Amino acid sequence: MQSYDIVIVGSGGAGLRAAVGALQTNPDLSILVVTKTMPTRSATCMAEGGINGVLEFAGQEDTLEAHSFDTVKGSDYLGDQEAIDFFVEKASEAVRETDFWGTPYSRRDDGRVACRLMGGHKHARTNYSADKTGHILLHSNFDYALKCGVQFRINSHLLDVAVEDGVCCGVVVRDTNTGEVTAIRSKSVVLATGGYTRMFWARTSTPYIATGDGVAAALRAGVAFKDPEMVQFHPTGVANGGVLITEAARGEGGYLINKDGERFMANYAPDRMELAPRDITARAIETEIIEGRGYGEGLGAHVLLDLRHLGRERILERLPQIRHVALLFENLDLVEQPVPIRPTAHYSMGGIDVIDHEHMKTPVPGLFAAGECSCVSIHGANRLGGNSLADAMVTGKQAGIGAASYVGGAGLKGDSSLEKLAAKWRDHFRETTARKGGATAPELREKLAATLWDGMGIFRTEEKLQAALDTVVDLQKEYETAVVGNDNPVCNTAYSHFLEVGNIFTLARCALVAAVARKESRGAHTREDFTQRDDENFLKHSLVTVNGDYHLDYRPVSINRYQPQERKY
Ligand code: FUM
Repeated sequence: MQSYDIVIVGSGGAGLRAAVGALQTNPDLSILVVTKTMPTRSATCMAEGGINGVLEFAGQEDTLEAHSFDTVKGSDYLGDQEAIDFFVEKASEAVRETDFWGTPYSRRDDGRVACRLMGGHKHARTNYSADKTGHILLHSNFDYALKCGVQFRINSHLLDVAVEDGVCCGVVVRDTNTGEVTAIRSKSVVLATGGYTRMFWARTSTPYIATGDGVAAALRAGVAFKDPEMVQFHPTGVANGGVLITEAARGEGGYLINKDGERFMANYAPDRMELAPRDITARAIETEIIEGRGYGEGLGAHVLLDLRHLGRERILERLPQIRHVALLFENLDLVEQPVPIRPTAHYSMGGIDVIDHEHMKTPVPGLFAAGECSCVSIHGANRLGGNSLADAMVTGKQAGIGAASYVGGAGLKGDSSLEKLAAKWRDHFRETTARKGGATAPELREKLAATLWDGMGIFRTEEKLQAALDTVVDLQKEYETAVVGNDNPVCNTAYSHFLEVGNIFTLARCALVAAVARKESRGAHTREDFTQRDDENFLKHSLVTVNGDYHLDYRPVSINRYQPQERKY
């Protein structure tokens, strides 16, 4: 059996940064990054607007404290304040560090890294590389990881995390090319598998790979899914499908316009206008559509994002990627025409329960989590734009340091548990691919997509959530006997997809269980039947575990400096 000190699952910003962080802590460690895609094709490359971090210099008005406060307020007070203070300090370091690595950030005239204002921030602190910041950062992390000698095993789909005597002892993965199922023994595992917003297949800005495989594996290993109901809808996805049009478009001065030609954000967030936080802006757009001031109907209903007044030169310099996206998906040039946009499922604020922000530990010794799959919780009920790349860099590095520090005192174990798990998955392939009748995963996935968009979308009610939960329970039953349709192990994408859809069902059900029970409105969780935030009863994290049944528990939010206040922009 192959053995490593640390196995990192996922090769986006967080996974790559974890690998480098671990090797910087101890260059003698054996580290393997397993990933179901090419490292440079992960979801990180789709983050556009920038990475937050206060860069101190003479005359600077911005402070670490201001970034902390904006993040706490943005989270609608569900973020853990100690974790946020730590994150903000390390985010500032992360920008300097990645600049030092040679990341080609855009520059100001005096050579400093360029930064812009994003939604919910009091100051411009989103450092950027045009509107391709995630793509650029992903490449600089990949280059740096290669330079440090990190080993990769690509086309490896995570099947399970192995736990023996309560301690993490490795992973079981499937080679998506050959179909081979392999157990890999390791002293520690870092999960950095990204988010789960592909459950909103109907409209999402996230890639096909964002199916929450790590969160589902952690659940099977006994780790809770924290705040699963907190899903971010980014205000501006292209109307046609939901691919991201960066918030930086509004950071650069873009307008949101309804069908009457009105800049309607004046009615929702008069002080911040288009740069209100995402939850508020997404609700405003949906309200315009629902009340008849949008264009079109059905999923493609939309309002307009108008950038024409910014001028061609500025758009080409700062927003070239979204110009390309608008050309591809809407067949229009946003230099000359407004773009049809509508909110799109974008980010998972919830994730694997992490109980220590310094080392990104989960409750299972030896198991760490970082990036979008983890919840520590920095973003609470609503993440601010630009905090996701910072999260990937900070939590990735800290998880790498945490895992490297842990393996000093740990041994390799768990052979029989790993072998048993691997055998279980080989049987699973044989059994599921031998089925002759039943629904297919894509059919079930389409039903789930419609169910979640209508039932657990931007506006929620008990009735809609409960109906969605009932449907998901039924669909899960159908999934148990669903058909794969191809029994060849080689390049069996139908089986890979089948596994991903199974994970998505588990996570969707967790989210619905928590959403039904959270009888308040907080951040992205907007209940039309409970329109106010209820700190007395719900200033707490949801924790869902799955052990045959789905069980919901809670944990208080950690509050140090900022007592919850009314959230006005
Ligand atoms: O709008 C954006 O560029 C997205 C960035 C983010 O999610 O942080």
